[in-house]
Amino acid sequence: MKIALIGAGNVATHLGTKLVEVGEEVVQVYSRSLPKATELAKALGARPIDDLYGLTAKADLYIIAVHDSAIAEVLKKIEEIVVDKMVVHTSGATPAKVFEAAPDLVRTGVFYPLQTFTKERKVDFSEVPICLSAADETDLNLLELLALKLSTNVYKVTDAQRAWLHLSAVFVNNFTNHLFEIGHSCLKKQKLPFEMLLPLIQETVAKLDGGQPKLVQTGPAVRGDFSTVERHLTQLNGRGDLQEIYRVMTKHIKRTHADNWTH
Ligand SMILES: NC(=O)c1ccc[n+]([C@@H]2O[C@H](COP(=O)([O-])OP(=O)(O)OC[C@H]3O[C@@H](n4cnc5c(N)ncnc54)[C@H](OP(=O)(O)O)[C@@H]3O)[C@@H](O)[C@H]2O)c1
Repeated sequence: MKIALIGAGNVATHLGTKLVEVGEEVVQVYSRSLPKATELAKALGARPIDDLYGLTAKADLYIIAVHDSAIAEVLKKIEEIVVDKMVVHTSGATPAKVFEAAPDLVRTGVFYPLQTFTKERKVDFSEVPICLSAADETDLNLLELLALKLSTNVYKVTDAQRAWLHLSAVFVNNFTNHLFEIGHSCLKKQKLPFEMLLPLIQETVAKLDGGQPKLVQTGPAVRGDFSTVERHLTQLNGRGDLQEIYRVMTKHIKRTHADNWTH
């Protein structure tokens, strides 16, 4: 497949690298910044462009990996060039409705890799769940063939399922990481290294292997150990924001595990 990559950020970099690794041809890389497009294009053996009107009409697949808020704008700009070609975006949160911005495009779809990508950090793409959807069944099958070259975890999902996957990802990744930040700042104030928490964090994730987070929940909230909860809230005096998070989480754990301690 000849593929044009629109975007030169985290996802474009990881996806482009893997596509080339499995023998696909990335023909162009677009970024508004020519140095950024050039850097990625060079690594992928592609041609850099910084103007969407210079986009080739000869690719088989156009992958839009730009900020969610810029997808519609990009679609409008490329609509006339790529009119009968397959165009996908990589966003978990953006519904297929976004393609209405370019009504002439009919071969549209989504190629959402469910992972957290940072340019500089290596990711084992072969394990990344790739969530696919497409307006046309044949295109969906083509996307599936491509995705299976990149990963063993390929799923055909509806728009609604993808929206829930993305929301779940925010809970388990973004929010969890923010809780790590809070733990980090609490320890920093005590002049203790965050690394002390790493074995605990790693075991927390390792225990999820059974796919039943509810069964492995520990801590004062699930035990119904409310004197400890009160002590923690007192420790957080002066940090109303953290008390609020602590209360909300505790209340929710209590409610989810109510059957553990009400009888
Ligand atoms: N990062 C993740 O973990 C992850 C995972 C799965 C899916 N996604 C999705 O993948 C897409 C890209 O995310 P990312 O993390 O790769 O983002 P990113 O690293 O921030 O890169 C975003 C790209 O969007 C381009 N861009 C921003 N505004 C633009 C505009 N108005 N017109 C044209 N291009 C514009 C940037 O262009 P310049 O190069 O010109 O600055 C950059 O190349 C998003 O839809 C995101 O939801 C992200």
